[in-house]
Amino acid sequence: MQNFPSVFESIKDIGPKHVQGLLSLARDFKRYSRDWEGLPIPFIKRPIIATSFLENSTRTKHSFAISIHKMGATYIDFNAETSSLKKGETLEETFMTLNCQGVDLCIIRTAVSNELTQFKSNPPIKIINGGDGTHQHPTQALLDLLTIQEMGMEFEGKTMAIIGDNVHSRVGHSLIDLLPMVGMKIILCGPKHYLPSDIQHPNVTLTSNVDEAIANSDIVYLLRIQKERHGKDDSATYETYPQNFGVDLERLKRIGKKVPVLHPGPANVGVEISADLIKSPYYFGYEQVKNSIYMRMAIMQAVLQNKDRRIGQRFEERTLQSI
Ligand code: NCD
Repeated sequence: MQNFPSVFESIKDIGPKHVQGLLSLARDFKRYSRDWEGLPIPFIKRPIIATSFLENSTRTKHSFAISIHKMGATYIDFNAETSSLKKGETLEETFMTLNCQGVDLCIIRTAVSNELTQFKSNPPIKIINGGDGTHQHPTQALLDLLTIQEMGMEFEGKTMAIIGDNVHSRVGHSLIDLLPMVGMKIILCGPKHYLPSDIQHPNVTLTSNVDEAIANSDIVYLLRIQKERHGKDDSATYETYPQNFGVDLERLKRIGKKVPVLHPGPANVGVEISADLIKSPYYFGYEQVKNSIYMRMAIMQAVLQNKDRRIGQRFEERTLQSI
């Protein structure tokens, strides 16, 4: 894949050709895995890949770890809590240290939005964003796209309703950048203050009418309320949310719409999604989890195989003569 970024921070870092390349590579990995379950994909050099999650994660961290094992790479679980980051070391110094130890790629999740941008011009190591604050979660959006493709749905002209806390969701932000790239339209839905005020894209419309959003969509994507990212308590919205914006089988039946429902997890059952909907054939959340393995393998392969000569340039060996 030509010119795949070494610091993959945002969907904005890649183009439609990369997206098609990743989808096809991920499908290949999925097919191989069905035939020869557990067979490592041979690399010329066995890469060392570290994950560093500075924020909670169940799905993303473990899906990367499993993808790394399936690729036959060496996995380092870099525990930020017990690392020198806790002693005040900067992220850059940490990346430099990992590079000097021979780590090829680091998957990082941080609570700070846009924290990885600073590393793009002079990357201390190859980096994949596993979610940064409210900004981006590009690997999640790409695995969602793979899930849509694996359902057998064409992208062009299809509409996704993204219902929930659109302002604070990094998953939502990555989907907004990705879906129009493959010709899809988006209806953002939620309470008014959970809808972005600055979106100007011909493929994106906004509404607070959830029934209307579902009725006009081919696929529904539910987002969790990101309470931990709200500056102040929003209890009034939390209390009325299940009634006003929660999706259950009853609502789908009333609208008369049979649509696949996606959720990146973790789901708050009884808030944005009902227990009966999760157990129903409409729910594709487990397919997303399955596909996450193959899309993340594809993304790691694309990052590892680019021929970026800038990586670690700053670490040219010191000699007495060069002082
Ligand atoms: C999301 C995340 O952490 O951004 N989950 C995930 O990665 N699968 C969504 C969320 O926290 O709501």
